[in-house]
Formats: sequence, C-alpha cells, structure tokens
Amino acid sequence: MPIIYRKYEPPHIDPDVTTGKDHAPGPPDARADIAERDLTAIRRLISQDLSEPYGIYVYRYFIYQWPHLCFLALDDGDSGTGSSYSVNEQATTSIEDKAHADTQTQKDNLVGVVVCKLASHRGVKQRGYIAMLAVATAYRGRGIATKLVRMAIDRMIEDGADEIVLETEVDNESAIRLYEKMGFIRSKRMHRYYMNASDAFRLVLPVKVESTIRYCVLADEFDVGPRSVAD
Ligand SMILES: CC(C)(COP(=O)(O)OP(=O)(O)OC[C@H]1O[C@@H](n2cnc3c(N)ncnc32)[C@H](O)[C@@H]1OP(=O)(O)O)[C@@H](O)C(=O)NCCC(=O)NCCS
Repeated sequence: MPIIYRKYEPPHIDPDVTTGKDHAPGPPDARADIAERDLTAIRRLISQDLSEPYGIYVYRYFIYQWPHLCFLALDDGDSGTGSSYSVNEQATTSIEDKAHADTQTQKDNLVGVVVCKLASHRGVKQRGYIAMLAVATAYRGRGIATKLVRMAIDRMIEDGADEIVLETEVDNESAIRLYEKMGFIRSKRMHRYYMNASDAFRLVLPVKVESTIRYCVLADEFDVGPRSVAD
C-alpha cells in the first residue's frame, strides 16, 4: 500500500465562505462545495479519536486560511481496508470541478492528516501551531504521522516560524512520544483544558535562537527539566 504525501490543494474559495457570512444556506458555488467535501473527509478522519468533537467552523478556520499548512497522506493503492476516507469522492461535472478532481486524484484515500496555522503571537514572534493530527487506525505505527508533522514543521520554518506549539491530552502517550522524539518539549500543564476535564500539556519546538533560550531559561528558573513537568 504505497502512501503518497502532499499538501492539500484547495479549489478557489469564495472569501464569503471563509468568513462564514451569509453561509446559512450552504456554500455559494461548486468550488466551495468541493472544498466542503474535502473538509468532511478530513473531519471524519480526525474526529475518530477526538475526546471533544470540533465543529465544521474550526476546520474551515484552519484549512481555508492556511491550506498550505495542511498535509495529507493518501493510500495510493486499492487498500480495501475500509478504514480510509475519500477526498473528493463524489462525481464532478463542471470544468473547474474536473480540474480540481484531477489534481486531487479521486482514487486516493485519505489515511492521515495534519492541520496547522502560522500567525503572529502577541506581535513579537511567529508561532506555528499544530491544531490537529490523525492517522487512520489501520495505518498507524508506520511513520505516517512523523512524516506529516515533519512536512508541516519544515513549511512553517520556511515561512518564518520562531517556535511551533501544540496541546495534547496528558495521557495521549503515542502523541507525546511522537512529538518528543521530534524535539518538542513540555512547557506547561494546563489544568482541565479539555471539555472532558482532562489536563493538557503544551508542547513547544523552539526554532529560533531567542525562542530556544527562553525555554531553556524557563526550565532552569523552575528547576525542572522540560520532561519532569509531568511528574
Ligand atoms: C498519534 C498518532 C497520530 C500517531 O500516528 P502514527 O502514524 O502511528 O505515528 P508514527 O508511526 O509516525 O510514530 C512515531 C512515534 O510515535 C510514537 N508512537 C506512535 N504510536 C504509539 C503508540 N501506540 N504507543 C506509544 N508510542 C507510539 C512512537 O515513539 C513512534 O516512534 P517509533 O515507532 O520509532 O517508536 C496516531 O496514533 C493517531 O492518529 N492517534 C489519534 C489522534 C491523536 O491522538 N492525535 C494527536 C493529537 S495531539
């Protein structure tokens, strides 16, 4: 089962869709319709394991504004596992639809996704944020998440990120191990962060020197190695 990795390629989206204005009856054109179908596939994969489901507006917020920071893993073969999710699975009719479908390759099945953003943090630094990450159950343990996160990190660094952060539930061992293997450190524990009342760790990957120094100083000041915050 060969896996293809690539950036999400959205169709052109009407700006009104991103703001949610006048959105009640549904997306205004066919391209937005395709974009919504892509989001549905991504959302279905991610929501499998979430302790709290995100609304569609959360997906629109991230993926419409930072499509270049959304990376997909697609099973290129006839997996037959029944555990992947088609991106652009429905038949398309218009020329624009057809062009988009050609780039997305309808046969591909979505088996992994990472969704990120990059924005100014308090006007002093560029902070990359990994909002969501998921790999379909049958495809786990093969390095797919590592590859997707690597692609996202590389792109955020290329775009000027000073640091990259995320939150994860304190008992999500697989995610914590994955990120710590990639150099992330625990910067704080957030009490009852999730709706299910569980705590979260904020994990940080300092990229620029200033950011690295800051997190080293913090760890030193409180006399805790980043990992021991969890103890
Ligand atoms: C976390 C998740 C994305 C990992 O995906 P994956 O493709 O299996 O991860 P990888 O194969 O790249 O694994 C990388 C490292 O993560 C750690 N890891 C992954 N799965 C693990 C598990 N079940 N138990 C312990 N460590 C695990 C390991 O250190 C692994 O490296 P190794 O295989 O060399 O030991 C996947 O389990 C998932 O989708 N979970 C549900 C959603 C989720 O928790 N997302 C993260 C929210 S912050």
